[in-house]
Amino acid sequence: MLNFKEIFTAQLASALDRQMSEEVIAALIEIPKNPEHGDLAFPCFTLAKALRKSPAVIAVDIASQIRAPLIEKAEASGPYINVFFSKAAAGKIIMERILKEGKEYGKLTIGAGKTVVLDFSSPNIAKPFSMGHLRSTVIGNALGNLADKCGYQTVRINHLGDWGTQFGKLITAYKKWGNQDRVKENPIQELLSLYIQFHDEVEENPALENEARYWFKELENGNEEAASLWEWFREESLKEFERIYDMLGIKFDSYNGEAFYNNKMEAIIEKLSAKNLLVMSDGAEVVQLPDLDLPPCLIKKSDGATLYATRDLAAAFYRKKKYHFDQSLYIVGQEQSIHFRQVKSVIKTLGYEWADHMAHVPFGLYMKDGKKMSTRKGRVILLEEVLNEAVLLAKQNIEDKNPHLENKKDIAEAVGIGAILFHDLKNDRMNNIEFSLEDMLTFEGETGPYLQYTNARAYSLLRKAEDGPSSENGLSDSHSWEIIKLLYQYPDKLEQAYQHLSPSVLAKYLIDVAQAFNKYYGQVRILEKDTDIKGRLALVKAVTIVLSEGMQTLGMRVPEQM
Ligand code: ARG
Repeated sequence: MLNFKEIFTAQLASALDRQMSEEVIAALIEIPKNPEHGDLAFPCFTLAKALRKSPAVIAVDIASQIRAPLIEKAEASGPYINVFFSKAAAGKIIMERILKEGKEYGKLTIGAGKTVVLDFSSPNIAKPFSMGHLRSTVIGNALGNLADKCGYQTVRINHLGDWGTQFGKLITAYKKWGNQDRVKENPIQELLSLYIQFHDEVEENPALENEARYWFKELENGNEEAASLWEWFREESLKEFERIYDMLGIKFDSYNGEAFYNNKMEAIIEKLSAKNLLVMSDGAEVVQLPDLDLPPCLIKKSDGATLYATRDLAAAFYRKKKYHFDQSLYIVGQEQSIHFRQVKSVIKTLGYEWADHMAHVPFGLYMKDGKKMSTRKGRVILLEEVLNEAVLLAKQNIEDKNPHLENKKDIAEAVGIGAILFHDLKNDRMNNIEFSLEDMLTFEGETGPYLQYTNARAYSLLRKAEDGPSSENGLSDSHSWEIIKLLYQYPDKLEQAYQHLSPSVLAKYLIDVAQAFNKYYGQVRILEKDTDIKGRLALVKAVTIVLSEGMQTLGMRVPEQM
């Protein structure tokens, strides 16, 4: 397989008579920003120091020794050696590969035989799906897709917040003031207002608190009425969450939430006490952690109740045993970073080295007009409304641009949702993001619709063309070469995005491809019937492959017409 960097590295290594290792050479090689400085460049400063010669002299000397079939020329430019590959020959190899591999282009084997578990989305039953959950969902799904591309086996887990004392309150409130039909109609909104009503009424009537405690105990003891109410609340909430997942096109392998671990915590507590790690503190049982900046991890409250952390400990052991993960990721807001450090540290303290393979993947907040954005306006859940609004806006934009388009509704959904996904993912994960539907939905600039539209434009060229694409003759012009080089980077970008757990690496790269293609579209008459037309169509086809696959990896849909 063609590998520019390896070819250049090998050439340099032999010209340098092995005075520098291939590893060191490869690490020094740069991709010049300006195409006039070649396809790859090697700076001679490090070498100059070792050889006590001027870098410019060394550059001239080495450049003259570089000779390989795919290298057109190597030239010294000041302290740099710039190398140019033969556009037609190298381009042909790259195009052939992309067209032959098609959808498979970019797939890697670095994860072969390994498993990654991703814990993401994980909203709380009977509570609104927050903007934080939206970010977790979008980022987690993209990371899962990237892991798939890298060849890992992936397991996507929705660790639902489906247990806790709030269910005692909810059962009490429902039995007093609830209405079955209303819950069915609008589960989360209704359950949330029952919960709020409980808190209002408890001010007047503190005895309600005892009742709630009673019902939570009953629930824990397996009381049938309590259990069936709990199950029903869970089911109705889940139905509502699933509507959101459907809109986003996201699926999970498991919905094992906190409740699933009810009967799995005792074993952990036994492990801890067998190693004498449980310490009493104000009546509660805690584990002291070796990390000086971490507070002790609370395992059992004074009334015997277990906690969020106890469940996460049980979940980690369960996942290790069931999936034999090589990596376990928790895509959860940064406000929980202490919690995850504690959980990891407890497992490590117990002596399990695999704790090192658990990673919290945090992210920043959604902001609106400089303030943290929340989906709860008064008592209404807004996320679904936000998604619907994006689709509506997309529909208006599409109608303005292309009134005769068929399937407008479907395409508007792909564009509206894609806009939100892309807007999130193009930003570095840790940054806070300004949430502006108008900005994310424009067809210009660095947006999802811009990518989708560029891709659709490429598809439409392929539909219009009478010829079929062919990579038989390489393109030798520099406009084509700029894009070919970019497409060549796709597998590397997938790998980098996954290694850094940063979908933004891929998102930014796709913008580069789209911009390069639009530039090409403006400079070159793609459908002109000359000898290169089939080659150019091959290039267009390759662009659709990379853009489509790349967008799908981010979780977006890719309309072929817009
Ligand atoms: N339900 C939690 C919340 O909304 C997130 C759970 C994250 N996953 C985990 N294993 N703790 O804050």
